[in-house]
Amino acid sequence: MTTPAWTAFLDEERPRIEAALDRALSVPPECPSIVLEAMRYSLLGGGKRMRPLLVLASAGAVARRAGGSLDDARRLAMPAACAIEMIHTYSLIHDDLPAMDDDALRRGRPTLHVLHGEGLAVLAGDGLHAEAFVVLARDPESDDPVITARKLAVIRLVGEAAGPAGMVGGQALDLAAVEAPTGRPMTPEALEDMHARKTGALIRASALAGAMMAGADPATAAAVGRYGTAIGLAFQIVDDILDIEGNAAGLGKTAGKDAAAGKPTYPAIHGIDRSRALAADCLARADAALADAGLADSLLRDIGRWIVARTS
Ligand code: IPE
Ligand code: IPE
Ligand code: MG
Ligand code: MG
Ligand code: MG
Repeated sequence: MTTPAWTAFLDEERPRIEAALDRALSVPPECPSIVLEAMRYSLLGGGKRMRPLLVLASAGAVARRAGGSLDDARRLAMPAACAIEMIHTYSLIHDDLPAMDDDALRRGRPTLHVLHGEGLAVLAGDGLHAEAFVVLARDPESDDPVITARKLAVIRLVGEAAGPAGMVGGQALDLAAVEAPTGRPMTPEALEDMHARKTGALIRASALAGAMMAGADPATAAAVGRYGTAIGLAFQIVDDILDIEGNAAGLGKTAGKDAAAGKPTYPAIHGIDRSRALAADCLARADAALADAGLADSLLRDIGRWIVARTS
């Protein structure tokens, strides 16, 4: 399941991502330390870093296919990797608030609002969201119009994925389903749409941002987008399964919350076995998209397998 190339990639790139995240935020006197410390608590406190790894793997795959350098690909893509992790972390802080999922545990530690109160947790999320776009606009610093154009396209991509057409929209559908239940189960189509938005959109944007920063042509970008859509849906299907089968020690977050809150999830609508089969279907679609892009032998294939086989 786990290839040596994938293990080596994780071992090499995770520390680089951690170091880049550690440097990414504004520091006093530009910003008050109270909000910086809150942002750092959530951003640097663990997490699999799947989205930044995906950004880097995608950039590396596109660069390698074009005969380019992996170091250059990483330099071009690391800012987007950090920015997307910042937006993801903000989404987790807000997702855990009492007004949303009301969770006390995240990444194996107390949630931010439990430690610092809801007001500062809201603001730390807002701060991470804004800082992400500062990073995307600023880095990598370059006067080259080609790089500037790629950065602008990625700013738009990430904004759309994070916003009402993407993550925020999906989270709104998730809230509405719990707060104003219709009495009928969500249709499979509506469930897929909700998952594609709340989780899939940012994962698709991760795959695409890496490819775009590495200079992917339109056909490659389209195929990478299809790959990202497929693994993004698989990711949330597996998250739903793990909420049932996992435990807090393994997940670093409270298990069993979805059923207790009456959430529409893949297991709730389809059952566990069919949910697993649907995640496997996603993986097959992801592989087909990679084959279309000529990227079948890249680490993007391994990420798909990791997403489906993961236990945390
Ligand atoms: C959890 O995401 C929230 C979902 C979108 C399902 P991850 O499982 O990637 O969380 P971290 O970043 O590893 O903590
Ligand atoms: C969250 O989905 C998706 C986000 C946009 C954060 P969940 O509510 O299932 O994520 P967890 O299980 O709390 O990590
Ligand atoms: Mg939620
Ligand atoms: Mg949640
Ligand atoms: Mg969940």
